[in-house]
Amino acid sequence: MTSAPLAAVTGAEGFIGSHLTEALVASGHRVRAMAQYNSFSSYGWLETLPSDVLDQVEIVLGDVRDPGSVRGLLDGADCAYHLAALIAIPYSYQAPHSYVDTNVTGTLNVLEAVRALGTPRLVHTSTSETYGTARTVPITEDHPINTQSPYAASKAGGDRLADSYHASFGTPVVTLRPFNTFGPRQSMRAVIPTVIGQVAAGQRTITLGDLRPTRDFTFVEDTARAFLAVGTAAAEQVVGRTFNAGTGGEISVGDLVALIGKVMDAPLDVQEDSARLRPAASEVMRLVADATRLTTATGWRPASTLEEGLARTARWFTDPANLARYKTGIYNI
Ligand SMILES: NC(=O)c1ccc[n+]([C@@H]2O[C@H](COP(=O)([O-])OP(=O)(O)OC[C@H]3O[C@@H](n4cnc5c(N)ncnc54)[C@H](O)[C@@H]3O)[C@@H](O)[C@H]2O)c1
Repeated sequence: MTSAPLAAVTGAEGFIGSHLTEALVASGHRVRAMAQYNSFSSYGWLETLPSDVLDQVEIVLGDVRDPGSVRGLLDGADCAYHLAALIAIPYSYQAPHSYVDTNVTGTLNVLEAVRALGTPRLVHTSTSETYGTARTVPITEDHPINTQSPYAASKAGGDRLADSYHASFGTPVVTLRPFNTFGPRQSMRAVIPTVIGQVAAGQRTITLGDLRPTRDFTFVEDTARAFLAVGTAAAEQVVGRTFNAGTGGEISVGDLVALIGKVMDAPLDVQEDSARLRPAASEVMRLVADATRLTTATGWRPASTLEEGLARTARWFTDPANLARYKTGIYNI
């Protein structure tokens, strides 16, 4: 009998990482999951997973900024998924050094561990923010990189290191570049939980930043399947390559609020909060994905429409036990 493959996941306790952990277990993997070391011994969203999932998950506290911690996580793994990152754009204006430490040096530590241990595959996580405002649409992987925030710059730094390790050492790395992802467990730093959370808390006047930018929103279970697709595809299809993951759809923040109002059956007014506006040259005005490369290489396609995903997300956030985990009354950065 062959034992189940072991996947090592950084950022496993976070939003996408916890869904990826579930998807890996559902597809027959064991998971060694890193939750960032903290004094509460909190395992983040992993604590909420069903016990039959957790039976297949070994949770370790660690930090991607520490090379030994990463090496311990990856030791013996058949595949590594590197999702750990600082992700909020507003906080990257305030704390850029920690973004470089986590997103650049942390990625370097993961690449070094993969190289030293001979890990057969690494899936590195990029972001559509590295493209900046679209110059051509839909955005293919050949679109120029234009980093408009310290967050985007730090993620692009990690991407470039991943590319360089493949070129220099043959490190078997695949880069997945998700466009905006949404769903249950997302933090209120992102726009969809911000709106749904305020509605679920009984507000009908929603406080937001700029309503004009457009985004391509992918439901989190589809994003998790995209990770699995590049993590398990034949090496010659994916290794050394970068793949967009997005739906090809596009909606402005203003229209998104109206759609959420419709899905949640709540008439909404929007109040612009100047504290939430980004410096004009830093705001990414338009993102829409061309994921043809991913579909061609792996067969991946999104399964949920935006409306279906919003309805599922709204149901989850309106459960009082889930909403109680959030601070809906403040601007979460
Ligand atoms: N959410 C999106 O729309 C989106 C879109 C594109 C790319 N991404 C990327 O997907 C990945 C996951 O993002 P998410 O939305 O789930 O965010 P998240 O904040 O929920 O998850 C990130 C996780 O990384 C962990 N982490 C941070 N610093 C760490 C450190 N020093 N050591 C170990 N762990 C650390 C955090 O504790 C957190 O659980 C990130 O790499 C992000 O850049 C997200």
